[in-house]
Amino acid sequence: MEKLVIEGGRPLSGTIRIHGAKNAALPILAASMMAEGTHRIENVPDLLDIHVMLDILRSLGCKAELRDETVVLDTLPAHSSHIPEELMKQMRSSIFLMGPLLTRFGEVQVYQPGGCAIGERKIDLHLKGLQALGAEIEEAGNTIICRATLLRGTDIVLDFPSVGATENIMMAAAMARGTTTIFNAAREPEIQDLQHFLNAMGARIIGAGTDTITIEGVDRLVPCTYSIIPDRIVAGTMMVAAAITKGNITLENVCPAHLTSVTHVLRRAGVQVHIDGDIMNVSCPGRPRAVERIVTSPYPSFPTDLQSQVMVLLSLADGLSVIKETIFEGRFKHVDELTRMGADIWVDMNSAFVRGVPRLYGATVEATDLRAGAALVIAGLAAAGTTIVEQIHHIDRGYDRIERMFSRLGARIERFTPAPVPNNN
Ligand code: EPZ
Repeated sequence: MEKLVIEGGRPLSGTIRIHGAKNAALPILAASMMAEGTHRIENVPDLLDIHVMLDILRSLGCKAELRDETVVLDTLPAHSSHIPEELMKQMRSSIFLMGPLLTRFGEVQVYQPGGCAIGERKIDLHLKGLQALGAEIEEAGNTIICRATLLRGTDIVLDFPSVGATENIMMAAAMARGTTTIFNAAREPEIQDLQHFLNAMGARIIGAGTDTITIEGVDRLVPCTYSIIPDRIVAGTMMVAAAITKGNITLENVCPAHLTSVTHVLRRAGVQVHIDGDIMNVSCPGRPRAVERIVTSPYPSFPTDLQSQVMVLLSLADGLSVIKETIFEGRFKHVDELTRMGADIWVDMNSAFVRGVPRLYGATVEATDLRAGAALVIAGLAAAGTTIVEQIHHIDRGYDRIERMFSRLGARIERFTPAPVPNNN
């Protein structure tokens, strides 16, 4: 398996352009199925998850090509709404296709996406929302079949502001008969991006970014050209990397407004963040300060996807910090790996107590999920000595060649791909 080898202790410096948002591109690629014809979607990051979504769309009959961060997608030839189980297993976000395929074909077959390293990842809110719109759900084993001859608009109150459920319901409601209002909707920027894309195809949606989204169903959507927003989680990851290496970097193609809660926490830790339009400069000349309490919550509060990265920064801070994870029940798997690098962290229920230490030490560690893997890379950039990060396929799901991002900023980091084992027969 590939691994990253990092020589720590070098301050990052220079400028980096932030690529498009994975968590905006995935639902937007799914939504494209609702309009027959050729879409042009720009600023799409070259990531494992994006390639899996494109493979799923091809398996349904679409023609799809990603070149120079632009996807040209012809959905006209699509003839199936049965997502192959093998592809579904590779990426749980394929669940975003339920709404679009139900609308287009009147039926969709998916498989329980199952949990992952960070938690159970239920989809009950997705299914309840589609049922409220008139879909019939049949579950047999791990297969889920959704049928609807006609979807009718209605009011839907989400028990929790689930990002995925909000997006699936928005897409299914876009061509339902009548008006749908989603109450307690998720407010993430990626949901606003999806609303803009759907409206560019002819949908009539307002309210994304607030907790109430109103969708007036239309009869038809048409293909469009669209550009994805920058990835706020990749931007936040780079901000932490600059701070922990006592570097000074400039981020281009970012939306500072999407990072308000992150900037607030980093400034509390003594990180200097200067904002000028869509440019952010981040530096931290001294040792970071502990942050008494950080609680991950739905947007616009502090994002769960940056919890592990900020924990690494605070593991070197002067004092005790407490991080409470309220979104996913299993999102502390990076703690054991950081402890092996010399961090002083203990977990009680869903809170991590981080007592800052003077330094971390290089070690061989294992990425358990996408963001934990990115956090371990950041730890390696700051640690004394050599760090080897294994299972880096997790990281490739959400960062376009992370080693290239950091080496361009002065880090000593290389990807090692083992030689293929010779086939003896
Ligand atoms: C999206 O996942 C993101 N993924 C996640 O990013 C992100 O961490 C998460 O939102 C929260 O911001 C994509 O957009 C592709 P949720 P999603 O539905 O939609 C529970 C990354 O690293 N829940 O808001 O799956 C669920 O178990 C990934 O890029 C239900 O109980 O998140 C979880 O505890 C990781 N029933 C919580 O809600 C449901 O039907 C948040 O889930 C749906 C969710």
